[in-house]
This record gives sequence, C-alpha cells and structure tokens, in this order.
Amino acid sequence: MKISPSMLACDFSKMGKEIEKIKNADMVHMDVMDGNFVPNISFGADIIKSLRSKSSLPFDVHLMISNPIKYIESFADVGADIITFHIESDSDVMHTIEKIKNKGKKVGISLKPNTPAKVIFPYLEYIDLVLIMTVEPGFGGQKFMCEQLKKSLLIKEFTDNTKLLIEVDGGINLDTINEVKNYPIDICVSGTCIFNSSTPSETIDKLRL
Ligand code: DX5
Ligand code: ZN
Repeated sequence: MKISPSMLACDFSKMGKEIEKIKNADMVHMDVMDGNFVPNISFGADIIKSLRSKSSLPFDVHLMISNPIKYIESFADVGADIITFHIESDSDVMHTIEKIKNKGKKVGISLKPNTPAKVIFPYLEYIDLVLIMTVEPGFGGQKFMCEQLKKSLLIKEFTDNTKLLIEVDGGINLDTINEVKNYPIDICVSGTCIFNSSTPSETIDKLRL
C-alpha cells in the first residue's frame, strides 16, 4: 500500500517544514479547492511551486475546482506529477485527459461519494488513476465512508487496464485502513491521522503495513 499524506492537514504557517516530516511517504497529496466546486478554499499553484524544491516525492495534485481544464498548464508547470480532476466538474472529460497527457503528466479522475462507479467506465482505458472519495470533498477530518470501497471492485471488474491505480481519499486512519486492505486499493491518502500524530513518519509506516 502506498501512502500519500494530504498537506491540507498540515500547519499552513510552516508548510516547508511540514513536508520534511513526511519524507518516507510514497507521494505528497495536494488538495486544491476553489470555494465553488467545494465550499472551502485551500491553496493553489503558487504554494505547490514553493514546496516543489522541499521534496523529491511525486506530487499527487487533487483538483477540487469547477473548471480544471483551465488550470492544467499551471499545475503541470509547477511540478505536479499526477493531476486528478473530478468527473463532476464542468470541464470536458476527454479534453481534460488529453491536456494532462500532453503536458507529460499522469492523469487521475476522482468520483464524489454520490457518483456511481459506472460513470467513469468509458474513460478507464485512457487514464492512470481513479481517486475514490471516501468523504464528501471539501474538508479534512471527516468520517470514513466504508461503502465507497466497493467501487474499486466494480472498476477492477470492468477494466482491462492492468496499470490502472486505485486511490482512496478521506477519513483514513490506523483503524479504517484495515477496511481498505480488503479491497484492490493501491494508494491511500491520509491527512489528519498523519499530521495530528506526534511522529508523522512512524504513522506513515504503520499505515503502510
Ligand atoms: C477532502 C480531501 C482529502 C482530505 C483527507 O476534500 O480531498 O484529501 O483532506 O484528509 P483526512 O485524512 O483528514 O480525511
Ligand atoms: Zn484529496
């Protein structure tokens, strides 16, 4: 299991130091929120740019924004490695996939809890990753929605894309990760559990077990 700590849960007043606490992670999850697609505003490309020199890990950028296609270039140019957008956004899905690929980045598509897995089936052969939300996007520290994990089985059953990665995001801690392990999940995002712990790197190792 790969672990992608969410910077949304870190202390924003010292993000450069916080990212150094999670060096043993597999990637770094960056939650971008626009106050429109979700009711909260987090941070954007300039913050990610300033963190790029502080970490050699891949940046896993989760765009919770209404019109992702408009911002693909800027997130690619500041050092995103995986760019994930929401299928419920206003951007044309195929055009957004192409734009991310043309920038040489990995493409992810995310599903909100109320979006059925089948909506993503037509795109699975073109993308690298599916991000299944296990909370309603917008805020850290919410309760894990266990039933969302079943989407991973439906996706695996449908697709021939053997390289497709499945990531889950929201409410994952040292308890709920045990549920995740019963499903074909490759990457776990975790924010509050990691950054609220006194030893983030040990918590990452425990989650990974
Ligand atoms: C929610 C974000 C998540 C969230 C994870 O909108 O996409 O990445 O911050 O944080 P925790 O682990 O606190 O649920
Ligand atoms: Zn996220």
